[in-house]
Amino acid sequence: MKELNKRFTILMVILLSGFFMANGQETPADILSSDFHKGRRDAVRKKLPNNSVAVFFANPVRNRANDVDYIYHQDPDLFYLTGYREPHAVLLVFKDDQTNENGDQYNEIFFVQEKNARAEMWTGRRLGDEGVKNKLAIQNTFNGREFAKYQIDFEKFDKVLFYDFKNDVRDNPLDSSDLFSLISQFKTKAGYQTDASSLGAEPQKNNLDVRGLNQIMSELRGIKTPEELDLIRKAVFISTVGQVEVMKAMKPGLSETEIQGIHEFVFKKYGSEYEGYPSIVGAGNNGCILHYIENHKPEIESDEMILMDLGAEYHGYTADVTRTIPIDGKFSPEEKAIYDLVYKAQEEAIQMAKPGVTFGQLGKLAKDIINQGLVDLGIIERPDSRHLYYPHGLSHHIGLDVHDKGTYSDLQENMVITVEPGIYIPEGSNCDKKWWGIAVRIEDDILITKDGFELLSSFAPRTTEEIEAMMAQPSPLEQFQLPALEGKKRK
Ligand code: GLY
Ligand code: MN
Ligand code: MN
Repeated sequence: MKELNKRFTILMVILLSGFFMANGQETPADILSSDFHKGRRDAVRKKLPNNSVAVFFANPVRNRANDVDYIYHQDPDLFYLTGYREPHAVLLVFKDDQTNENGDQYNEIFFVQEKNARAEMWTGRRLGDEGVKNKLAIQNTFNGREFAKYQIDFEKFDKVLFYDFKNDVRDNPLDSSDLFSLISQFKTKAGYQTDASSLGAEPQKNNLDVRGLNQIMSELRGIKTPEELDLIRKAVFISTVGQVEVMKAMKPGLSETEIQGIHEFVFKKYGSEYEGYPSIVGAGNNGCILHYIENHKPEIESDEMILMDLGAEYHGYTADVTRTIPIDGKFSPEEKAIYDLVYKAQEEAIQMAKPGVTFGQLGKLAKDIINQGLVDLGIIERPDSRHLYYPHGLSHHIGLDVHDKGTYSDLQENMVITVEPGIYIPEGSNCDKKWWGIAVRIEDDILITKDGFELLSSFAPRTTEEIEAMMAQPSPLEQFQLPALEGKKRK
């Protein structure tokens, strides 16, 4: 009996150590630490108004079709505050210490989805409450079904801050702790009115605040910490390597989809989990559609340019980098004229970036340069002519979201923003035909430093000369041949 026990113990030790080793290998070493997330919860607490609580829900699971869901993506605020990547969760962060029924004090409480061996066999591992305590170091964590029983008097707070509900969450009637139930339970506890007469109106309890949280989270998320900057640098670098490999591999006859695939293969090679937004790869006139994501032109043509706006998402943080290049490796005079104008607007705006300069000033500088340039090229009549050739803004924050939360007045140290002017001249525009179908966006990511900026995306060539030189380089993909697909022309 003793011997058996001993053997059993040894076997368990071997199995468990294998399990932990395997688990250890599965977690990348450079993910955000639990200290980072704790620091962010403390920072929220500091910014909360007196006698208040902030409530953060997980993102819903979205259905793709039938019994297949979209790949789950956590709500960026909840991820920022916890590191938790699973659905069906709610976090409460209190300004002041609360006392539970045992007389213990707490200033945050987290409800997460429960472990379930059967479900995990189909849809993946769950941390459960114990896993969250161990791995994410959030000690006051409970299984979601405890939320219904959780005694809390929301009326005692001067403010209960949360994001208003979009009413787009599916109910799983068999699960009383799914997100739908957590939200319903919160609404009941907090006295949130959901009847039709209050739709679109302010919630009726006057301590419920659906506006203030966005400001707090924008102030925090807009200024990146060193740990975040480390991940953003990696995401941006990976994205620029994708651009470089595509520059080398570009040739007429490739499809937009295939070019997208080369970028995304590079992302995956580096361990980037996702794309930060649907990749935009538009040849010729398709480049004039700002968020063109079909990417289905089967064969790009030698006299076109291709606009490629792609960002790797690395451990939660996304880049946003655009390059526009000529398919045949040489800019035509018209393409170069438009490209150089966009480049000038971008370069001057980048050089102007430093703390204290406003987003508005940067945007105006780029717009003025483009308008004057379009006049000089004879595309518009006067700098103040109304036109749609540059219809978007210059800059936005990047981070956990591609259009990240952040404030939009002065630039501040440790903001990371894009600088992305563009000119788009669709077929049929009111100008000389020679410009038709030219679309150029150049988008780079910069870090605002103490007294200026750092260009994070410099690995991808940006001037016409640098791009042409890179495109003349050989590509390893030249050797990559696949068998023909029946019924499809082989390239
Ligand atoms: N990729 C979307 C944007 O540039 O804003
Ligand atoms: Mn952008
Ligand atoms: Mn972009």
